[in-house]
Amino acid sequence: MGTLIFAHRGSSVREPENTLVSFQRAEQEGADGIELDVQMTKDGELVVIHDETVNRTTNGKGFVKDFTYVELTQLRIVDKKNKRIFPRSGERIPTLSEVFRWLKTTNLLCNIELKNSVIFYPNLEERVVQEVKDFGLEDRVVYSSFNHDSLAHMLRIDPHAETAVLYKEILHQPWKYVQSFGARGIHPSWKSLTQDVLLETIENGIAVRPYTVNRRLVMEQLFRLQCTAIFTDDPLKAKNVYASLNL
Ligand code: G3P
Ligand code: CA
Repeated sequence: MGTLIFAHRGSSVREPENTLVSFQRAEQEGADGIELDVQMTKDGELVVIHDETVNRTTNGKGFVKDFTYVELTQLRIVDKKNKRIFPRSGERIPTLSEVFRWLKTTNLLCNIELKNSVIFYPNLEERVVQEVKDFGLEDRVVYSSFNHDSLAHMLRIDPHAETAVLYKEILHQPWKYVQSFGARGIHPSWKSLTQDVLLETIENGIAVRPYTVNRRLVMEQLFRLQCTAIFTDDPLKAKNVYASLNL
């Protein structure tokens, strides 16, 4: 089986990250899956946004945890790089259930990153697992987090959940670490991943999905090594690089 391509925050090189259009674009471009980030509002709504604050990606200011969901819906996605409101009308921070409703109509896989290393949202794990079950998406989801205690907690709630540890440092024999608490994958920064660790981790039955791979040369190396999957902001480029290798 070849390397799967996950669109990091959707096709975020072309569309605003973590929006429905970005995820839909990823599907059109042939991605195998999407990656998204989950935070929680003041009134407990699960929303898809990378940062703890809305400052970088919307026309608002403040922490997600201090907004009610209705207040968040008033905000518009902003392309800060180009200093403009994102031109498609109606583009807002999506809820996790809005993304799932669309995801159900596709065959895409989904990596749900729990953003709970900075703010410890109460019962985030329970809420996300329940939402995944409500939509019947259990077999298409991989949970990840930089908060590894949270992943262990996730496995206590749902022993069948597929979890993967996110990290950017260099870990010693990471396959042993993840196996110690039942996780099934590593999601390292590609810069901290060596060929030896990649191969040995896979040999030990643990999935390897490095982030965020946007350079052609790095893609080629990972595809040739039959890495399990990559996260990229540009799934179309990754598809084309993969096809060009004739693996
Ligand atoms: O899941 C891989 C990657 O998304 C982790 O880093 O900061 O882009 O959420 P970040
Ligand atoms: Ca992420």
